[in-house]
Amino acid sequence: MSEFVIALPKGRILEEINPFFEKIGLIPEDDFFDDHSRLLKFKTNINNTSIIRVRSFDVATFVAFGAAQMGICGDDVLEEFDYSDIYAPIDLKIGKCHMAVAALQQFVLEDDFYRDGHVRVATKYPNITKKYYQSKSIQPECIKLSGAMELAPVVGLCHRIVDVVSTGSTLKANGLVELEHVMDVSSKLIINKVSFKTQSKVMMNWIEQFKEIVK
Ligand code: PRP
Repeated sequence: MSEFVIALPKGRILEEINPFFEKIGLIPEDDFFDDHSRLLKFKTNINNTSIIRVRSFDVATFVAFGAAQMGICGDDVLEEFDYSDIYAPIDLKIGKCHMAVAALQQFVLEDDFYRDGHVRVATKYPNITKKYYQSKSIQPECIKLSGAMELAPVVGLCHRIVDVVSTGSTLKANGLVELEHVMDVSSKLIINKVSFKTQSKVMMNWIEQFKEIVK
């Protein structure tokens, strides 16, 4: 039997994911809980089942290409990549946040950036950003960054950012304000479509367990 690999995102969402696995009875090896460990693939107490811990942005990619059969991934990442090979059957109702357009307080009232139908936006999400602005007939010039988006307007790299907002404290700390709501975000259980067909019994078992917990 081939190995069953579950892709999980690094970072604060892990704390919300752990109770699911506790309830299911999936116990990863000790290194999984050790922040100093450099291990990226972890054995579990379930036969032939491992966990990989990757960047939240990469979870969908590992699952889409079948390197992991199942994963937990936010709507932001799913929407940005829009992989056709992923099935997302359950909203786990964790990792709740939203995506927004934000700007420096002093630029909020200046709509010059939009006047000629053009705006320069720093974001980790160029596809979502383009789609959002194009629906308003505005052509965004997207500058792709990998993190610390809130810094971009502060140092004059752009006039707007599109990023996820959770508590709003990063925006506030950097003098930015939220202008427009782009989309709501929560985390989904995601499954590789081919694996869903070839390992349907195992998959249905996982899906039922997650469904029961969400209920
Ligand atoms: C995310 C996001 C914001 C921040 C929002 O960054 O990109 O910067 O969280 O959270 P808040 O509204 O609670 O302040 P993350 O911490 O994931 O790090 P990153 O900058 O590496 O993306």
